[in-house]
Amino acid sequence: MAKAKTHYVCQKCGATAYKWAGQCVDCGEWNCLDETVIEEAKTKSARFSGYTGDPPHCCWLSDIAAVEESRISCQNEELDRVLGGGLVNGSVVLIGGDPGIGKSTLLLQTLTALSQSRNALYVTGEESPQQVSLRAKRLDLNVNRFKLLTETQVERIIHTAMQEKPQVMVIDSIQTVFTDVLQSAAGSVAQVRESAAQLVRFAKQSNTALFLVGHVTKEGALAGPRVLEHMVDTVLYFEGDSSSRYRVIRAIKNRFGAVNELGVFVMGDKGLREVKNPSAIFLSRHEENVAGSVIMVTREGSRPLLVEVQALVDTSHMPNPRRVTLGLEQNRLAMLLAVLHRHGGIVTYDQDVFVNVVGGVRLNETGADLAVLLAVLSSLRNQPLPNDLIVFGEVGLAGEIRPVPNGVERLQEAAKHGFKQAIVPKQNVPKGGITGLTITPVLRLNEALAYC
Ligand code: TYD
Ligand code: MG
Repeated sequence: MAKAKTHYVCQKCGATAYKWAGQCVDCGEWNCLDETVIEEAKTKSARFSGYTGDPPHCCWLSDIAAVEESRISCQNEELDRVLGGGLVNGSVVLIGGDPGIGKSTLLLQTLTALSQSRNALYVTGEESPQQVSLRAKRLDLNVNRFKLLTETQVERIIHTAMQEKPQVMVIDSIQTVFTDVLQSAAGSVAQVRESAAQLVRFAKQSNTALFLVGHVTKEGALAGPRVLEHMVDTVLYFEGDSSSRYRVIRAIKNRFGAVNELGVFVMGDKGLREVKNPSAIFLSRHEENVAGSVIMVTREGSRPLLVEVQALVDTSHMPNPRRVTLGLEQNRLAMLLAVLHRHGGIVTYDQDVFVNVVGGVRLNETGADLAVLLAVLSSLRNQPLPNDLIVFGEVGLAGEIRPVPNGVERLQEAAKHGFKQAIVPKQNVPKGGITGLTITPVLRLNEALAYC
């Protein structure tokens, strides 16, 4: 295929160059020139007033019938949940995550299930047909109607897809795919973006539901998924730690459903299995009460989840004591420690503070504040909190405890799992109380600290 004309565009100032260089001659930034296909002059002229063809027509939004998108069930409740109720025809879903976390496994399982009733095509550029077959055999999958294509050139993939006309297609992974029109290596930002653009165009034109797999590198800035987020309809990321059995998928962007919805899976010897009721799986359930551990009820997407926040506070021997968080924002911890000092009179400037959310879960909400502070205090004083206690609430800079959304539902979930006591913001306490739960309402930080 003839090479398209390309040039190099500075990602910082937009200057163009016809040859690659390490430094942009205009702004002086290093390593920012990116190969890009030059658009045909014909398409460019349409943007200017000199355009002479038929003008495009506007329409009244009220004249357009709002038809609900038809959805394909992935036959996997958790995946359907994060997708917002199933896969939408013609939509493009990006599944990102660390290498080895289970992206190929999940899509192999999903596509085999879908291939029983629909035309499905799995395109792999990473594994040989033997490897895929071996994995399917190990997972006991019925592969009678499973179509596989081993190819990495995007033009050839699209050509095959136009003949096969799949309803659902998987590209595993977008980093291995390349287009002939660019000279850069497969996996480079330019290649990933251009190949994905062609695949997205194909999916929209042919109404094919498309899954793109993308690896996120350790720095998070994958040559891939991050640059693709705006091009696709839905972005799902695998969270958590590959050493744990549990895998959490979170919707980061969804044009067809709610974001921050979670899907929970467990990795076993038969691949990924859905966890239908994940609310208490992340608790470590210590035999004895331990200092520095507090259970909170968070709400991720549409359901409550019980999670354990652990803190370790230890004398620091460094000029700048360490503040380390896993599953929480580090700046939030620094802010909470300042509130603890200012409004609770408790100093931690000579202590290293480590906070971890058990099970590799990520807490994105501020409702975890009170649990973090009580865990820190419990560790600092080496004083365990009761193991039938749950805590939640946002802590403000003025030392006030603010309510969180869906408080009653969180309390009900805790009572369902046998918790007997709760320390929560005053506005979250239901009038009639919750059967089996003794609730302590708090308005200010020092009221909460009195319980530790
Ligand atoms: P994989 O799905 O290939 O990850 P990705 O495509 O995201 O790079 O690999 C998943 C990991 O899970 C791999 O390290 C092996 C493990 N695994 C199991 O524990 N059980 C299984 O049944 C399978 C298929 C994989
Ligand atoms: Mg893979």
